[in-house]
Amino acid sequence: MPKQSKDMLDKIERLTLGHYETNAESFWQGTRDHDVSQNIDTFLNALAKHGQRDEAQDILDFGCGPGRDLQTFKNRGHRPVGLDGSEAFCEMARQHSGREVLHQQFLSLDLGENRFNGIFANASMFHVPGQELPRVLKACHRALRVGGILFMSNPRGNAEGWQGERYGHYMEFDDSKACLEQAGFTVLDHYYRPAGKPRQQQPWLAIVSQR
Ligand SMILES: C[S@@+](CC[C@H](N)C(=O)[O-])C[C@H]1O[C@@H](n2cnc3c(N)ncnc32)[C@H](O)[C@@H]1O
Repeated sequence: MPKQSKDMLDKIERLTLGHYETNAESFWQGTRDHDVSQNIDTFLNALAKHGQRDEAQDILDFGCGPGRDLQTFKNRGHRPVGLDGSEAFCEMARQHSGREVLHQQFLSLDLGENRFNGIFANASMFHVPGQELPRVLKACHRALRVGGILFMSNPRGNAEGWQGERYGHYMEFDDSKACLEQAGFTVLDHYYRPAGKPRQQQPWLAIVSQR
């Protein structure tokens, strides 16, 4: 894929976020009851195994949307912070969870260092263009404490481009693993969803990695 200009990267974020912003309420109604318990449990188990068992964890919900999973993390006794580029989602996520939500875009993150035990990126990292992914993953790596966990679940494939108004970058496991390792992560585990289906009926790839 040819190198994308700053203008094109701005357009990717503007149009993709514009789509979510315009459809914020219907997105919430359509996803509030999604069962993501397999992903949440996998993430929290990895945190407990590699961190401080039974302690409240500092979690960043990366691309938190309207806040369904922020609520869950809070109800499980953790200290989640949300992050999203859609102002409408940030406001909804604050109301639904009562937690801090950072209004930031993936291509201009300001996360600091050693701040979180875990980053949960459910259906969000695939919106980062491939060219920028190493930089974004490095920012996540820096934001995690040593031993911290990055969980990502993304639609898989070998493609990059527009799907309607939204931009996506779809990778299979080997390419995802290479990107994560390049950013300094160690890949611990991966699986395909929905569970129990033949592989061609499993469009989602979940990966657990560690700083
Ligand atoms: C498919 S939704 C997933 C939302 C939520 N994690 C869930 O599982 O329901 C993707 C999320 O990523 C956010 N997003 C997409 N591109 C972004 C960008 N460039 N910067 C910040 N957020 C972005 C969207 O606003 C949206 O909340």
